[in-house]
Amino acid sequence: MSADYEIKGVIAVITMNNPPVNGLGHATRSGIFDGLKKALADSAVKAVVITGAGKAFSGGADIKEFNTPKTFAEPNLLTVIAAIEAADKPVVAAIHSVAMGGGLELALGCHYRVASPGAQIALPEVKLGLLPGAGGTQRLPRVIGVENALTMIVTGNPVPSERLAGAKLFDRMIEGDLMAGAIAFAGEIDERRPLPKVRDIRIDLPDREAFFQLARKTVGAASKHFPAPLKCVDCVEAAVTMPFEEGMKVERENFLALVQTTESKALRHYFFGERAAAKIPDVPEETPKRPIKSAAVIGAGTMGGGIAMNFANAGIPVVVLEVNQEALDKGLGTVRRNYESSLKKGRLTPEKFEQRTGLIRGTLSYDEIQNADIVIEAVFEEMSIKEIVFRKLDEVMKPGAILASNTSTLDVNRIAGFTGRPQDVIGTHFFSPANIMRLLEIVRGAKTGKDVLATTMALAKKIKKIGVVSGVCDGFIGNRMIEQYARQAGFLLEEGCLPEQMDKAMEEFGFAMGPFRMGDLAGNDIGWYIRKRRYAEHPDVVYSKTADLLCEMGRFGQKTGAGWYDYKPGDRTPYPSQRVNDMIVNHSREIGVERREISDQEIVERLVYAMVNEAAYLLAEGIAQRASDVDIIYLTGYGFPMHRGGPMFYADTVGLSNVVATMEKYAGGRHGKFWKPAPLLVKLAAEGKTFN
Ligand SMILES: NC(=O)c1ccc[n+]([C@@H]2O[C@H](COP(=O)([O-])OP(=O)(O)OC[C@H]3O[C@@H](n4cnc5c(N)ncnc54)[C@H](O)[C@@H]3O)[C@@H](O)[C@H]2O)c1
Repeated sequence: MSADYEIKGVIAVITMNNPPVNGLGHATRSGIFDGLKKALADSAVKAVVITGAGKAFSGGADIKEFNTPKTFAEPNLLTVIAAIEAADKPVVAAIHSVAMGGGLELALGCHYRVASPGAQIALPEVKLGLLPGAGGTQRLPRVIGVENALTMIVTGNPVPSERLAGAKLFDRMIEGDLMAGAIAFAGEIDERRPLPKVRDIRIDLPDREAFFQLARKTVGAASKHFPAPLKCVDCVEAAVTMPFEEGMKVERENFLALVQTTESKALRHYFFGERAAAKIPDVPEETPKRPIKSAAVIGAGTMGGGIAMNFANAGIPVVVLEVNQEALDKGLGTVRRNYESSLKKGRLTPEKFEQRTGLIRGTLSYDEIQNADIVIEAVFEEMSIKEIVFRKLDEVMKPGAILASNTSTLDVNRIAGFTGRPQDVIGTHFFSPANIMRLLEIVRGAKTGKDVLATTMALAKKIKKIGVVSGVCDGFIGNRMIEQYARQAGFLLEEGCLPEQMDKAMEEFGFAMGPFRMGDLAGNDIGWYIRKRRYAEHPDVVYSKTADLLCEMGRFGQKTGAGWYDYKPGDRTPYPSQRVNDMIVNHSREIGVERREISDQEIVERLVYAMVNEAAYLLAEGIAQRASDVDIIYLTGYGFPMHRGGPMFYADTVGLSNVVATMEKYAGGRHGKFWKPAPLLVKLAAEGKTFN
């Protein structure tokens, strides 16, 4: 039983006990249900208090039971709530720490609620593309008002209990010992019957039509690709316009419909994928970790400064090393301006500003970094420079220090080979801007120690990143896939597309930015530089020359004021460029390709399936541990549309045999060789299986 039962005088206390957050799994629900029955049958019991053990009242559904029949097994949450509401003895919810989702719905089914200040109150179901399915949309508006309830339900964000203290939601706020306060409250309840029920509270909303019209407009605009928020509005409106039981039916129908939507499945895939990414089969959770109390960063360029900020934000002192004073001043100046801007916008308190800027120090000398627990190298992407740096680090760093590289493409095993301690070397691939982007690709070298990997994964969490493990290969998971995407984009330019058409198609699919706007933002010279290396190393791999021609025109992107698009000073809006478009059309002529009309569907299929196919190789090679890791990388680091769940999840929803069939269609066109489906993809498609 995941709920304890005890008698305190004339009060029965039912304590949910299902760590870590008293998820309302089957055993917990049964425990509450049985405890309630016992209390009602015991004539010595006058009232019942329901609370939660440990760190929460209840965090809601038990994620361990998600997608299992146990979720709906009786007594389900609706049954438990109905039993509480129908009880002929008063039931009091004693809320502390966390009351979310089903936990809050359970409390709303009680006759009374008391709470400690500082408890997080939320109905977060919308974050999984769902809505509260156990009366939350019907009861919350009755106790905190329609507007407040709607905001909580459509955003899913928590509100501290003291902010709701004046509402009908809480009958009493209890400072100090919650249980003592709750028992005292229960003891004071008089004999009057019937007991109060939230369902009986009448909602008054003048100007109802105007209110919901505006709500639909606002919510619709903010939730473009997701159906759940507007369904939440429908349910709250039902709470206002319909009798309670009818409203419950509307909630139920909408809940069941949302469970089946791709968007909700995608969000749940993301939720579980993020948790799965933290697991490494041969590196169990209890693997010993090295303490990280200080850090160093080599290079104060675009990446180094942002990386240093991550440490300072987490309270870890960090020393940044540069080649000369000028570069150091420039890099640290940028960091300081970043913090100043947060301070000005009120995102940082003056104390935090002082604390964080005080934790970052610059140096030109390796003597000052030798005692750091971890050092992250972020110098130019050039093996010869990485070699100089890592030989030096091997010489000076204290034994046991983790030596990490932020390389985006280079061979981490070779880098490890420059040291006499390859077990201490690892790749930490941050994404730009490094202080903001949540993804951290953690590159596991052939000799990387398990404790080093475990420590780096834990560090990712500490600096609020999502760490995803990749094996060593050119570009790791994310960039190796994006290269195939970029190659296809180049071929499409040659065959008839222009940048603006392709960007529009990909943005309509849901990408934050199409490939060309992205290139202009990141700098087209980076890809140019990488391609030059590829031309030398892999002369057989074909690329479109359009991107090289663009760079030869000096159009590196926003930083040079011109790229695939034209830019005006101080304005990041991309304006289609006649010069670039002429260059593209001329290039097609020069290589003898007749340009044709290309549909948005073809653009999306070719760009996305190019990535999916490469990912199938990454999985087969063991570079990626699991398909959901690939999705997490793309959702958090590459702007892949969240409602599509990542490239692998998307391919699964299209159906892998359909993906293979489409690829075979393109195999008959230009660069047909490109479209040979990876063996893993063919196998899964033939077996009717999915990646995830
Ligand atoms: N820019 C990105 O979007 C991005 C994203 C992910 C990873 N990366 C990788 O991060 C690394 C750094 O990239 P960046 O964009 O910050 O480059 P950058 O050119 O902005 O900065 C590199 C800095 O390293 C300094 N430097 C060079 N040699 C040095 C040495 N021997 N000792 C100390 N400092 C030295 C330079 O003075 C410069 O300030 C590269 O490996 C790159 O591939 C970049």
